[in-house]
Amino acid sequence: MPLPGAVPSPNIWNHPQVYETENRAVDPEGVLEAAMRDLADWSGRDLLDLGCGTGFHLPRWAAAARQVYGVEPHPDLAAVARRRARRLTHVTVLQGTAQQVPLPDASVDVMHARWAYFFGPGCEPGLRELDRVMRRGGTAFVIDNDATRSTFGSWFRRGYPDVDPDAVERFWSTHGWQRRPCDIAWRFGSREDLVAVVRIELDAATADAVLAEHQGLEVDYAVNLWWRRY
Ligand SMILES: C[S@@+](CC[C@H](N)C(=O)[O-])C[C@H]1O[C@@H](n2cnc3c(N)ncnc32)[C@H](O)[C@@H]1O
Repeated sequence: MPLPGAVPSPNIWNHPQVYETENRAVDPEGVLEAAMRDLADWSGRDLLDLGCGTGFHLPRWAAAARQVYGVEPHPDLAAVARRRARRLTHVTVLQGTAQQVPLPDASVDVMHARWAYFFGPGCEPGLRELDRVMRRGGTAFVIDNDATRSTFGSWFRRGYPDVDPDAVERFWSTHGWQRRPCDIAWRFGSREDLVAVVRIELDAATADAVLAEHQGLEVDYAVNLWWRRY
C-alpha cells in the first residue's frame, strides 16, 4: 500500500514497464537537465528526487551529486528504485511523501520533482516541507506539463479538461516560484511503444482520437520547469 497522502499515479503504479519506456523517450536532447544545471548545478551537492518512482533518474544525479536521496510513497516502486541504485553507495532510497519527507531540516541543496505531487493548488503541505528540508541557497525544481502549448499540451488539455493552466501559473508565482518554459520531445523507437505510452497517459477515447491524428514516432512536448531559490 502506498503511504497516506500519495497522489494516485495509475500510469507508473499500474504500468511500471511502460512508464520505463516513456522515461527513455522523454527529452532525448537533455533540455530539462541542461536548464536545471544552468540554474543550479548539483555537482558535489546533496540532491533529493521527490516522487522518484522506480528511480529512473537516480543514476543520472549520482554521476555528479555528493549524496542523492530518492523519496517515493509506493513501496514496490521504492523497491525497484533501491535495486536500480544498489551499486551506487551515495544513493539512498526512502519511503516517504512530499508532505512528510524523511530527511532532517536543511539537508538538501537541490530538489527535483518530475510529474510528481507538485501539480499546483493543493500541494501547499509539500511546499511547507521544502521550507524545512531545503538548505539556504538551495534550489527546488518542479517539472510539469505546459498545457497551453505543443502537441502533447493539446492532448493533455483534451484528456484533463479540469486542469486550468492559468490557475497553475498563478499558484506558482504567488508562492515565489519562477517558470522556465522548455520545449522537449517524446522520441520512441517504435510506433508500438508510442501507442503503449499514450494509452497509459490518456483515457481510452482521447488516446484513440490523438493516435488517429498523429503519425510517426515523435511528439513535441512543452514543459514548465518551475524553480525556486531558498
Ligand atoms: C508519474 S510518476 C513520476 C515518477 C518519477 N518522477 C519519474 O519521472 O520517473 C509520479 C510519482 O509520484 C509519486 N507520488 C505520488 N504521491 C506522492 C507524494 N505525496 N509525495 C511524493 N511522491 C508522490 C508516485 O508514487 C509516482 O511514483
